[in-house]
Amino acid sequence: MTDQLTVIVLAAGGGTRMKSKTPKVLHPIGGRSMIGHVLAAVGALAPARLVAVVGHQRELVGPHVTERAPEAVLAVQDDQLGTGHAVRVALEALADAGRTPETGTVLVAYGDTPLLEAATLQSFLDAHTAASAAVSILSGVVGDPHGYGRIVRDADGFVEAIVEEKDATAEQRAIAEINSGIMAFDASFLTACITRIDNDNAKGEYYLTTAARLAREDGLVVTAHATEDELQTEGANDRAQLAALGRELNRRVVERWMRDGVTVVDPATTWIDVGVELVPDVTLLPGTQLLGVTSVAEDAVIGPDTTLRDCEIGAGAQVIRTHGQLAVIGAGANVGPFSYLRPGTVVGDRGKIGAFVEAKNAVLGEGAKVPHLSYVGDAEIGEGTNIGAGTIFANYDGVDKHRTTIGRHARTGSNNTFIAPVTVGDGGGTAGGTVVRDDVPPGALAVSAGPQRNILGWAERRRPGTAQAQAAADATDGSAGDDVTPDTPATPE
Ligand code: UD1
Ligand code: CA
Repeated sequence: MTDQLTVIVLAAGGGTRMKSKTPKVLHPIGGRSMIGHVLAAVGALAPARLVAVVGHQRELVGPHVTERAPEAVLAVQDDQLGTGHAVRVALEALADAGRTPETGTVLVAYGDTPLLEAATLQSFLDAHTAASAAVSILSGVVGDPHGYGRIVRDADGFVEAIVEEKDATAEQRAIAEINSGIMAFDASFLTACITRIDNDNAKGEYYLTTAARLAREDGLVVTAHATEDELQTEGANDRAQLAALGRELNRRVVERWMRDGVTVVDPATTWIDVGVELVPDVTLLPGTQLLGVTSVAEDAVIGPDTTLRDCEIGAGAQVIRTHGQLAVIGAGANVGPFSYLRPGTVVGDRGKIGAFVEAKNAVLGEGAKVPHLSYVGDAEIGEGTNIGAGTIFANYDGVDKHRTTIGRHARTGSNNTFIAPVTVGDGGGTAGGTVVRDDVPPGALAVSAGPQRNILGWAERRRPGTAQAQAAADATDGSAGDDVTPDTPATPE
């Protein structure tokens, strides 16, 4: 059956109400463009032919469609003369490619309905086939039908026509059953009828919906199947509608994961893109956003207030108040709070990136830790190594970036600066305050700060009359002031 299916996605319209330089169908929602969702839904039906009709900003829409669905034929509709004209352009593009659908079904969908699901389309197509219909309409019964084409049925309940808002009588406008826009056609009927559609109507457009009346005039079967879930065919025309559909899409995605065993403490503040992969016994705390192709393994706890894009989180890891992108966090690792993981960060199993640590292009071995207040750029840190608080991996000399390599089970002191390129050998170490410019051999301790000297009586001599001097005098009986060692610093500053 599938090899008999042709899908046409209409996306030539302007979308002026978005008030955007970005084409309407390219606006993102749930981690994909609107048309990306539609292409995913129709793609799951594995159609033999897929055509996207592009027009407005086709230089942007066309390549995006090709990226999402390389098999799609692009049909260009220069002037948007109506949905019937758009389908005609699509059929002409197929004919030009020698791929006219002679038999089977042609499904028409719009590029701006991001909640559309393949299962809905499949059951609609099944009903279309079962009814041996020339035209089938996916309809919906709505509270406010204003603006939609109304489904006009005869006394026996058979569909007679679709009447557009502007052409409808007052009586027809009261009809609550509307055309969702998704229609299925017998391919041979559609290819013959498409040139019979005229633009003799209130809008002067070629209406695809006219095909329903033409089929009836030919004595063919026209059916309408009302969907239970109208939001699946709802389009987003402005940004308010986009946000409303985005929240609803997210609600559905979050609910699906909860049914699949994921604990979501606060669904209202948890955002999960459609491309995210979770497993049972993942816990998501309030304010968590999992974006792109992020994946989270069993027993990991994410959040609160964490954003991860295209990250891979291992089993049992904890990621608290963190912003991460293109990072890998190993099993049982600990990240946060207030950590910033930039692309190329890899935290080993049971490793740690602690508070106020920024990492980029940094690979930490198993159990390696950067617990406090550090910048780790372009580094490799061996297994079991601990980096002292307040360490800077100075990776940039103003012209080029360089790497720092720290071996296994090293211990580096607090407030170090590693001037890359530099290496600390396995089991090596550094003293507090070290500026590491030269390689440190395995097992050696690097010390760069000079010995400490105490300049006695400094406060009373150099800050006389201050609270500091008074406190010093109180503590020393004035005796500390007798030392007159010159107060030049021991090491250059
Ligand atoms: C259309 C239907 C209406 C239905 C409604 C559902 C017709 C005549 N009317 O009306 O019955 O209730 O959708 O939303 O079909 N498009 C093109 N090229 C064109 C015209 C439109 O590609 O020349 C695309 C648009 O980009 C859009 C879709 O087709 O994605 C629908 O077009 P639109 O103008 O919004 O149709 P409606 O008047 O809303
Ligand atoms: Ca519309």
